[in-house]
Amino acid sequence: MKPIISINSLSKTFTSGFNALEKVSLDINKGEIFALLGPNGAGKTTLISIITGITIPTSGSVKVNNYDVIKDPIKTRSLIGLVPQEVAIEPFETVLSSIKFSRGLFGKPQDSLYINSILKQLSLWEKRNTKIIELSGGMKRRVLIAKALSHEPLVLFLDEPTAGVDVELRKDMWGIIKSLKYSGVTIILTTHYIEEAENLADRVGFINNGQISLIEEKQQLINKMGKKTLSIHIQNAIQNIPYKLKKYKLEISNSGNTLTYNYDINSEKTVITALLNDLSKENIKLKDIKSKQSSLEDIFINIVGK
Ligand SMILES: Nc1ncnc2c1ncn2[C@@H]1O[C@H](COP(=O)(O)OP(=O)(O)OP(=O)(O)O)[C@@H](O)[C@H]1O
Ligand SMILES: [Mg+2]
Repeated sequence: MKPIISINSLSKTFTSGFNALEKVSLDINKGEIFALLGPNGAGKTTLISIITGITIPTSGSVKVNNYDVIKDPIKTRSLIGLVPQEVAIEPFETVLSSIKFSRGLFGKPQDSLYINSILKQLSLWEKRNTKIIELSGGMKRRVLIAKALSHEPLVLFLDEPTAGVDVELRKDMWGIIKSLKYSGVTIILTTHYIEEAENLADRVGFINNGQISLIEEKQQLINKMGKKTLSIHIQNAIQNIPYKLKKYKLEISNSGNTLTYNYDINSEKTVITALLNDLSKENIKLKDIKSKQSSLEDIFINIVGK
C-alpha cells in the first residue's frame, strides 16, 4: 500500500542545541489509525509540528500524499487536520462560526452540508449556536476536532486527544475517533496511555528520546509477544510439583496455594484441558482459576526494559 505520509530520516536540533528528533523514519498508511506512544518530552509534538509545517526540521524529509512539506507547505497543510495538544479556542464565538472560520482559513468555499454532517457526527449539532465559553470541556474538545476536520483533510492528527479527561469522556472520544476512521480519515494520534493505543490503533510506534524504537501492527505485537497466565488456586497447599506435572513448568507461589501456568496466546487450548485433567489425576483439588492476558503495556515495559 502506498503511504499517505512518508517520513524519511527526520532530525530536529533546537537552537538550544537539544536533539528532539534523531533520524526518524516512518510511513503512515492510508486509512489506518497509527498511535505514537512515548513519555513526556519524547518528541511526539515536535514530530507533528514538522509534519504540519509549524517547525522546520534540521534534516530529513516529510511527504504528505507525495507533496514535500517544505517545498509545498500550503498544499500539504491543506491535506492535514490538526487537533493540538493545548486547547486554544475562541471563547466568544459560536461553535458554528468557529468551525466555518477554520474552513475559511484554508480558502475553501463554505459547504453547509459538509459542516452540518461533521456537527452531527461529533454530537455538536444541538450546540451549534452556543458560545464556546458556555461548553463543557468535552464539548470543547469535540469543537477542536470539528475545526480540524472543517477543510476536509485526508489525515487527522490528534496530539494527546484524551490527556486529562475523565474515563467516560475518554471512551466517548475513542468512539468518535473510530467513527472518523470509518468515514475514511487517516488518523495519527499521540498518547501516553497504552490502553488508548490498545483500544484504537491498527499500528503502534514507540518513541523515546527522539528515536523510534519500534513500529508494529498492534495485533501482531500482541500475538508475537503476548503471553497468557493461568493462576490456579488449590484447596490444599503443595510444596513440590508432582513428577507427572513437570512438563507444564508450573510455578508455585502463595505458600503453595497457587500454581501458575504461563503459555503462549496462540497455543492450543487442549493443553489447558490436559493440565486440568492431570491436576485432577494427581488429586490436586481446585478452588479457583483465573486467566490473564498480557496487555500492550506489559509488552512495552518488556521492550523498553531491554
Ligand atoms: N522550541 C523548543 N526549543 C527547545 N526545545 C524544545 C522546543 N520544543 C520542544 N523542545 C524540547 O524537545 C523535546 C521534545 O518535546 P515534545 O514537545 O516534542 O515532546 P512530547 O513527546 O510531545 O512530550 P509530551 O508528552 O510532554 O507532550 C523536549 O525535551 C522539549 O523540551
Ligand atoms: Mg506533546
